[in-house]
Amino acid sequence: MKTGNMLIYLLAAGLLAACASRKSEPVKQREFSPTGRVARGEEIYMVYCDKCHPGGEAGLGPAISSNPAPQFIKRFQMRHGLGVMPSFKKEEISKKDLRDISKYLHAWKHY
Ligand code: HEC
Repeated sequence: MKTGNMLIYLLAAGLLAACASRKSEPVKQREFSPTGRVARGEEIYMVYCDKCHPGGEAGLGPAISSNPAPQFIKRFQMRHGLGVMPSFKKEEISKKDLRDISKYLHAWKHY
């Protein structure tokens, strides 16, 4: 069981490395310096989301930067969770903060 897991981790690490090297070029060319509510969204994202969706890419969770689902679906997902993804209640992420994360996710599409 342990060696099986190890193998999966190694495979996953290899895949991640392959993806990372392929994607590194466009990332460097892009300039993204959010302001206002998008910047606030980024701050909250870094606290709650980045550990599983690092920079919008796949980590423990899938890549979300290219997910075409409408923002209301994503907000629903944040509130209610899905599978391994935890739910975030109003006490954790306020309504306004949720909107700001949403604006931040949306802004990715335009840079
Ligand atoms: C503990 C890890 C974890 C955290 C923290 C987390 N997610 Fe997720 N997220 C996941 C996993 C795992 C999935 C896939 C769920 C599934 O399909 O079963 C997912 C799925 C998603 C999806 C749908 C992606 C798709 O293509 O189906 C979105 C959007 C998303 N997360 C956004 C967020 C946002 C925004 C936050 C911060 C508020 C966040 N996640 C925090 C683990 C996490």
